[in-house]
Amino acid sequence: MNIRVPLYKVHMPPADELMPALQKTLYSGQIGEGAKVSEFEKQFSQWLGVESVVACSSGTAALHLALVLAGIGQGDEEVSTAMTAEPTNMAIRHAGADIRFADINPMNGTIDAATVAPVITDRCRAIMAVDYAGIPVAIDGLRQLADSNGLVLIEDAAQALGAKWRGQAIGTQADFTIFSFQAIKHITTGDGGMLVLRNTDLLTRARKLRWFGLERGVDRSRVNAVDVGYKYNMNNISATMGLAQIPYFNTVINAHVQNGKFFDGAFRNQPHIRPAAWDQSAEPCYWVYSLLCDDREKIAARLSAAGIGWSYPHKRNDRHQIFSQYAAPLPNLDSYFESLIHLPCGWWVNEIDRQQIVEVILAR
Ligand SMILES: Cc1ncc(COP(=O)(O)O)c(C=O)c1O
Repeated sequence: MNIRVPLYKVHMPPADELMPALQKTLYSGQIGEGAKVSEFEKQFSQWLGVESVVACSSGTAALHLALVLAGIGQGDEEVSTAMTAEPTNMAIRHAGADIRFADINPMNGTIDAATVAPVITDRCRAIMAVDYAGIPVAIDGLRQLADSNGLVLIEDAAQALGAKWRGQAIGTQADFTIFSFQAIKHITTGDGGMLVLRNTDLLTRARKLRWFGLERGVDRSRVNAVDVGYKYNMNNISATMGLAQIPYFNTVINAHVQNGKFFDGAFRNQPHIRPAAWDQSAEPCYWVYSLLCDDREKIAARLSAAGIGWSYPHKRNDRHQIFSQYAAPLPNLDSYFESLIHLPCGWWVNEIDRQQIVEVILAR
């Protein structure tokens, strides 16, 4: 099948901007974590409007680091969702904690206060909220629930760079937020992630944990590791790509948003389909478009025939053997999952493409 409009496409800055910068880094003799990583952190934190960020080798590394910094480990439970990519829940297992799957809001696939509250136990220490497909979780309710139960709120915003809640960037509200710069996200650095810390006092420890528990810049024969640390640092090569991408962040994200809004308008009030819907405080960044259909197989076949990429969602995580011990009734997820199809809405989808997508979906 010849796919003309793919579901994902890697955004790269123009070669005449990126390649000289990359060449300089590659032959600088300093390709590990160094000045480029610090500069990327500085520019990213300015763009997001936060103080403390820690650039990591992946979003998964950033998630695990968040859990370690939150002091979550064996014997603890964390409320999470099965409606996500596997790394969300793998990171909880990396920390040694157990999972309590909450059901989702049937309008948009994210967990919320109403679905999380019933699954909180005495062992729960944290809530892992995922901005699925770039749709922000309703964080006000989750924040209240977390505060009233003494829980840490971690936001997995791997798919939600540039999304907002009450006009504030995602990344400014949870105790810990992570982003991913993996190959098919809005913005890539090859692979990479960013951890955003609400408590800036944790920054020094976070930086040490990211690099074997060692303080960088201190003589390796004198430095003293007091914690189990990890090899989770971003390197200068990825950071150089990230720095070249920063001037394009807003343009890329805005293109996803414009296409997403176009689809929202076209698919609203149509028979047999409905766009995902959200609280009016949420401003999604439309990583991929989420459409709910009475008969998604028919729509998938039509899209394929027209050369348009699509996908069903990730395998629901409670159906993996490794997470099956945490399976629980999730009736909202059952129906959402079976009717969901993802459509391309990124920067590469032009006005003609998006019109064609609408015609293919609405064809009778
Ligand atoms: C929801 C979600 N969480 C976490 C991750 C992990 O990010 P990374 O691939 O950068 O480790 C991803 C992406 O793969 C994701 O989609």
